[in-house]
Amino acid sequence: MRDKIADVSSIITSFQIKDLNQLETFRIQFLGSKSDIKTLFGELKTVPNEEKKSIGKELNDLRIQAEEKFATYKDQLESKPETSESIDFSKTGESFSVGSHHPISLVRSEIIEIFNRIGFIVSEGPEIEDDWHNFSALNFPPEHPARDMQDTFFIEKGEKEMALRTHTSSVQVRVMENQQPPIRTISPGRVYRNEAISARAHCFFHQVEGLYIDKNVSFADLKQTLLYFAKEMFGDKAQIRLRPSYFPFTEPSAEVDVSCSICNAKGCNVCKNTGWLEILGCGMVDPNVLEAAGIDSKTYTGYAFGMGIERITQLKYKVNDLRLYSENDVRFLKQFTPSF
Ligand code: PHE
Repeated sequence: MRDKIADVSSIITSFQIKDLNQLETFRIQFLGSKSDIKTLFGELKTVPNEEKKSIGKELNDLRIQAEEKFATYKDQLESKPETSESIDFSKTGESFSVGSHHPISLVRSEIIEIFNRIGFIVSEGPEIEDDWHNFSALNFPPEHPARDMQDTFFIEKGEKEMALRTHTSSVQVRVMENQQPPIRTISPGRVYRNEAISARAHCFFHQVEGLYIDKNVSFADLKQTLLYFAKEMFGDKAQIRLRPSYFPFTEPSAEVDVSCSICNAKGCNVCKNTGWLEILGCGMVDPNVLEAAGIDSKTYTGYAFGMGIERITQLKYKVNDLRLYSENDVRFLKQFTPSF
């Protein structure tokens, strides 16, 4: 009996367990209801009484040896990553989704590219601005309603009162302060306004503003540049029209409409049957703005324009609710397939 116990013990020790199948074979052979150890326990009754106790203990130790080996390998194998031998290549693959560019990023890149082609260089600046760059240098009179708490998020930053920029014209002030003409720059970026969030308004949105300053820059240059932009963005048939407007930093100022590309200017519910859609504001840089930034307004003139990227995206992709842009709904985002 002792010899049999020693034999089984050495078989347990040398038994190779490399995967779950071998573990199961081990379990059946040593711990199952018909196992070698069970058989030995059955034979215990044939052992002479005086040896029963010690052999019984040896048998028990043998069972514990098998149980411990089983437990150790079970733990190891179940936590082990699958090896190439155990991968089932016939299983259906798990699908993974490819991301896409955000529509605002797509349209921002397209606007930048269009202006890059005619020599405009991107400039960027801070989103937290001081009063000077966001308002004063842009000829905003102190009592101008745009400074009102209604429109602007003011923040305390140390001693100084700062604000979240309400437009990227602030970046252009920084460019003018640091560079003499000729200046030809566009400033894409996020801007903030204190507005209730709805389908048509949001507390933040994105702009691209442009600035061109040189000798003899005229309103005709502005108009032609904007017509070029409209055709590049909305197709060769696009037309523009300018309506007189007011901005503190430009004089004269205009708002620009583009012919509705959805109904070919025939009139639809998007253009409210007018055939025209407003896309941007523009004008000739006010001499006060040039002087405030240290540019001689007798020698130089310039034009500026600013557009909302959301608005252009809305027209290009027919998105009718501004909130969709920041809700991160994958069903919305995945419609904009990557361009690579
Ligand atoms: N800064 C203006 C805005 O945010 C847009 C604009 C830029 C208008 C340049 C005229 C000239 O609404």
